[in-house]
Amino acid sequence: VKNHSRRTRAALGAVCLAAALTVPLSSQAQAAPAAAVPSIVPKPVSATAGHGRFELTRSTRIVAGSNAATPVAQVLAADLAPATGQRFGITRGRAHDGDIRLVLGNPGALPSEGYRLSVTSHGVTLESPSQHGLFDGVQTILQLLPPWIAHTTPLPGPWTIPAVTVTDYPRYQYRGVMLDIGRHFEPPAAVEKLIDIASAYKVNTLHLHVSDDQGFRIAIKGLPNLTTIGSQGSACATGCTTPDPGGYWTQAQYKGVVAYAAAHFMTVVPEVDTPGHNNAIIMSEYNDTANPLLNGHPQDINCSNSNPPKWNYTWDVGYSALCPASDNTWTIISTIVKQLSAMSSSPYYDLGGDEVQTITPAQYAALVNRESGIVAANGKTPMGWADGYATVAGTTPPAGSIGEAWEPGGTDAVQAVQKGMKVVMAPADHTYLDQSYPAPDKSGLGLGWACGGCDLAVNYGWDPATVTAGVTDKNIIGVEGALWSETLPNFTDAEYLLLPRLLAVAEIAWSPAGARTGPAFQDFASRVAAQGARFQSAGYNFFTTSQVPWRLDLTADVGHGTLALLGAPGVPTSALTAKINWGDGTTTAGTITGTAATTKTVNGLYSVGGHHTYAHGGAHHVTVTVTETNGATATVHLTI
Ligand code: ACM
Repeated sequence: VKNHSRRTRAALGAVCLAAALTVPLSSQAQAAPAAAVPSIVPKPVSATAGHGRFELTRSTRIVAGSNAATPVAQVLAADLAPATGQRFGITRGRAHDGDIRLVLGNPGALPSEGYRLSVTSHGVTLESPSQHGLFDGVQTILQLLPPWIAHTTPLPGPWTIPAVTVTDYPRYQYRGVMLDIGRHFEPPAAVEKLIDIASAYKVNTLHLHVSDDQGFRIAIKGLPNLTTIGSQGSACATGCTTPDPGGYWTQAQYKGVVAYAAAHFMTVVPEVDTPGHNNAIIMSEYNDTANPLLNGHPQDINCSNSNPPKWNYTWDVGYSALCPASDNTWTIISTIVKQLSAMSSSPYYDLGGDEVQTITPAQYAALVNRESGIVAANGKTPMGWADGYATVAGTTPPAGSIGEAWEPGGTDAVQAVQKGMKVVMAPADHTYLDQSYPAPDKSGLGLGWACGGCDLAVNYGWDPATVTAGVTDKNIIGVEGALWSETLPNFTDAEYLLLPRLLAVAEIAWSPAGARTGPAFQDFASRVAAQGARFQSAGYNFFTTSQVPWRLDLTADVGHGTLALLGAPGVPTSALTAKINWGDGTTTAGTITGTAATTKTVNGLYSVGGHHTYAHGGAHHVTVTVTETNGATATVHLTI
């Protein structure tokens, strides 16, 4: 059942109808709807609805309680600006009625990333012991505003926040999303969009898989072949003859993304997978005989199943490996680890370690053990896929190093704990975001080996601490969703697999343990539904899974022949009708127009419009009502 709540809106803006009748405008505040528990993802530790609501006005200021709160105040002002069309002033000192106040402090035993948010009709106060906690609280404020706050151009609002008190803090310190730019190249702008998406749901770690058999994506000084040769292509399906286009980032671009992430309170963990998954490195350096860093016979790096090595842009795994006995291997690894570590913000460096088949366990252990020392010498804590790094006989990960456990059932998590590691839980059957969707999806995107055709309830229906005996929250530092890119030639396709499933990963990582099935899943799904118009406003692609009760959202957007903007995720215009009550005793049918969905893209926001000639000038109170064939309706009132 779609949303039946009546959405009460007042409009500011210009109108030009068919008769070229342009009239002065009024803004009118209307009665608040009954208080409901707001839709926040991830679900906060506690949220209590109050009475009334706060409204952003022309005089609202953002008051930073200290210099240290100012950067987060600037984030909030920047996030509010596009949709409101307003530059909110940031001031220090006392808050007035109607202001938003950001305070660094601890209102009562909150952990560092915790926050307390109080919204009344008089103002908003956000308090946290840390800037990171203030940033998390700002994400909650943005979700409490109408979804249209994510729109990239100005809308009339009104911009209201229901009165509420929220006390919130994360379950896990590490809340990650991984993107594979090795198999399919993505430019920095795409990764910055991922940072926008993820940080809005309090994900704080970007794990960037920068190299795989099909490509190496970051320029490394002294080893130019890694990108001139190693970045030329991207994966293409088995049987394909021409690789998809490749590409690489300069170090300045990588640093730019790290800085962009930092501004969103996310750290970046780089991963150059070793000793396997690196045909691109081997292809780049195998004939690099004149490189002064190498010893003139770099062919000895190749322990793949093919010698000489050859390009393989298919989805095969396990056929490539670097040889631990080669000095050149160590020059290459040391050079990469040193440069990437120096540019990265995370305490972790990920050495990969998964799915190696062409060297012996002893060779494998020799390689990852020595690389662990190099990582530590560069000031980072080693992290690696637990199926290899924690599991292969003879590996000795340093105390406190991180095993990322991806095997369904958590066998590799148990191995990591037994080796004294901390664990990031990423069980593929719940958190691998590259897995395909069920019908009615026809995108053809995604693999199926771990959880093919599984939907949001599967991504949500698990708990990190009960995947396997012997691995509890004492061992677990966090949760990650991994977006592998074999089937994803562009970021629009990647977004389709990412959303809304990333929200399940984010909630598992942030919110307290609890039921994740039945009514708890229905509650989650209804909160996800509230994100639909937000995603559409921000221009995000997503899968309109039937497990989410997507709703109709309507707001005033008065322009030439248009009156309102409609969010109706997954609903074609043919299933919608609009009615316009012009406020002078006339009601006509409205038109609904916009971009239709394709098999790989969600439909766009729709415009609702109509034409009418008034007999008399003056203010008219117009009501726009949209009805879906299943009975769902949404209504907006505006004055023209
Ligand atoms: C992995 O899925 N091979 C980490």
